[in-house]
Amino acid sequence: MTATVVLGLAWGDEGKGRVCDALAADVGYVSRYSGGNNAGHTVRVGKEDFKLHLIPSGIVREGVVCTIGNGVVINPEVLKQEVEALEKRGIEVRSRLRIDGRAHLIMPYHIRLDSHREKALGKAKIGTTNRGIGPTYEDKISRVGIRVQDVFDEGILRAKIEAALREKNAIFEGIYGEKPYEVEELVSYLLSFKELLFPMVEDTGALLRGALENREQVLLEGAQATLLDNDHGTYPFVTSSNPSVGGACVGAGIPPRYLDQIVGVTKAYTTRVGDGPFPTELFDETGDAIRKAGHEYGTTTGRARRVGWLDLPAIKFSASLNGITHLALTLLDVLSVVERIQVCVGYEIDGERVDEFPMSQTDLHHATPVYKELPGWGVDITGCRMRGDLPETAQEFVEFVEAEVGVPLCMISVGPERDQAIVEKIGA
Ligand code: GDP
Ligand code: IMO
Ligand code: MG
Repeated sequence: MTATVVLGLAWGDEGKGRVCDALAADVGYVSRYSGGNNAGHTVRVGKEDFKLHLIPSGIVREGVVCTIGNGVVINPEVLKQEVEALEKRGIEVRSRLRIDGRAHLIMPYHIRLDSHREKALGKAKIGTTNRGIGPTYEDKISRVGIRVQDVFDEGILRAKIEAALREKNAIFEGIYGEKPYEVEELVSYLLSFKELLFPMVEDTGALLRGALENREQVLLEGAQATLLDNDHGTYPFVTSSNPSVGGACVGAGIPPRYLDQIVGVTKAYTTRVGDGPFPTELFDETGDAIRKAGHEYGTTTGRARRVGWLDLPAIKFSASLNGITHLALTLLDVLSVVERIQVCVGYEIDGERVDEFPMSQTDLHHATPVYKELPGWGVDITGCRMRGDLPETAQEFVEFVEAEVGVPLCMISVGPERDQAIVEKIGA
């Protein structure tokens, strides 16, 4: 009766979908607990890529029950498209997907507000995915959000939309000189999803707690990542939820005592989409080579990802915050394109050597990485299935990272395909 959490240790896109897919082979339930369709999780099965934004990656594994927890924000249109697209590809979704009635809905006005806010920030923009995530969580916290369950009570739905629009329309008309929303237009928009949602909505927290009591395995699939966490990340360049481990309990509706394994995922280097500090970022041809080899273009927005070296103080901070029990190291094969590898082991901040990831935004902006150089391996490693198959220098790199982070590796991913991994200690 345990739950495993898979979460990102950096700024997202660490390969959480791929790691969850591997772990989902042995579980009954996979649950998303935070974020919305700002996420893009890729699972490759054979030559086919599944890019999941809202539905947990476990859906690709036959028989797994998938839940979208109360902590997730749902764009109903995107949900519909995702359900239909998966079903077109022969994956049974409706009978296996459960959606919590407490989850909040992303409304059309949230998406418009997201883009207005970004424009207003100018140079200081966050570089959001423009999916309405921030404004939806703002309304949740302000207690004027619309929840999935509201779709089943037209009276409540209308009253809530009316209340929300009083302020929203004042903003659209007064500040932006734009057309206001009509209450009835939004009521019928949401009612159009009633049929889709009705059979899938339930109390998913209760469902997961029951499963855990029955000694079934639950996998909690983190979206975004620790350094994008609203409390613990590189604020204000973060998302509006808590992707770190605390958010898993709140957003899935299960008590912490069930959490057993916490798998932290990191690439063998670092990427970031959107704006914000990134001390180890590369602006040269090495960065371009890594971007090309790793196909580092956003799964959700298609934006080119910023690329840099592995930042150990950042990863160690995230490992400590989440209390990870295992590390999953992904995209190791991509480093085959570089001759020498740099790993950040500390920073120089205003002339002083610092070993910890700085809490202060000012310090982070002034941080120059201190690197340890390791030799590369320069050969294709996508065929390696055991640590011993890796070239010696790749083994050294892996051992160095494992020792620095201080928890055992459960997976070393050497390619996007299901079998392209060295699997150790999963389930141990
Ligand atoms: P997520 O958001 O954390 O699930 O990660 P994304 O799916 O956004 O991005 C990870 C990308 O890397 C996807 O295109 C994966 O197919 C790919 N990928 C995952 N693991 C590996 C790996 O070990 N090697 C390579 N070359 N690609 C990988
Ligand atoms: P997965 O789950 C990478 C980033 C955005 C932006 C910031 C805020 O695929 O790892 P938001 O739209 O959430 O308000 O944007 O967070 N961001 C991600 N970056 N992977 C993600 O998800 C992300 N989700 C949000 O680029 O910098
Ligand atoms: Mg992604």
